[in-house]
Amino acid sequence: MESRQGNGTSGSVRCWRCEACLLPMTGDPMPDTAAPTRLTAVRPPVPEGQTLTLTINGVDRAVTMPPWTTLLDALRQHLDLTGTKKGCDHGQCGACTVLVDGKRINACLTLAVMQQGRAITTIEGLASGADLHPLQQAFIDHDAFQCGYCTPGQICSAIGLMNEGTARTPDEIRELMSGNICRCGAYPNIVDAIRTVMAAQAGGEQQP
Ligand code: FES
Ligand code: FES
Repeated sequence: MESRQGNGTSGSVRCWRCEACLLPMTGDPMPDTAAPTRLTAVRPPVPEGQTLTLTINGVDRAVTMPPWTTLLDALRQHLDLTGTKKGCDHGQCGACTVLVDGKRINACLTLAVMQQGRAITTIEGLASGADLHPLQQAFIDHDAFQCGYCTPGQICSAIGLMNEGTARTPDEIRELMSGNICRCGAYPNIVDAIRTVMAAQAGGEQQP
């Protein structure tokens, strides 16, 4: 059999699949009469920008961005809402926690385009004018932060925690807030702040 690749070795056939390697092909090569046929993948064009409307802190915001933009990047890079922080960008630290329809989510793990039509709440949307959200005030009162980088995510996550209504004890608060990492180690004060607000909402005093 004659060589297809002209490698000078009479009787050998180089593999036609990539035409790059020097290994001789064993077995039956492609039919002699057919030229190598390569399938060309036909891909739809990828849009560079897509305009969508997000409802953030009660306001509809139209924004144009690539469809693969995460909600976190949409907030920070396209809407100038930099209160929501980027820590790991992999769902590991909780710094990016926001509320969507009252539920806490990691904004780095969802695409903005998936959140159209939902009510997104960020740390910027918690206060009412000059009045802080009770959890914001409690974090100040309990000195529940040092550098503050994790704090927006901690507060949004704590609101989601209270909306869920499943945490009753300090241990349960710690367990259900474990997705929010604080590198400064302010955990005891964070739990105290959450307990204070939970107790106030329940109409009772915080138990030690
Ligand atoms: S930045 Fe989203 S979980 Fe860390
Ligand atoms: S206050 Fe610094 S990481 Fe939590």
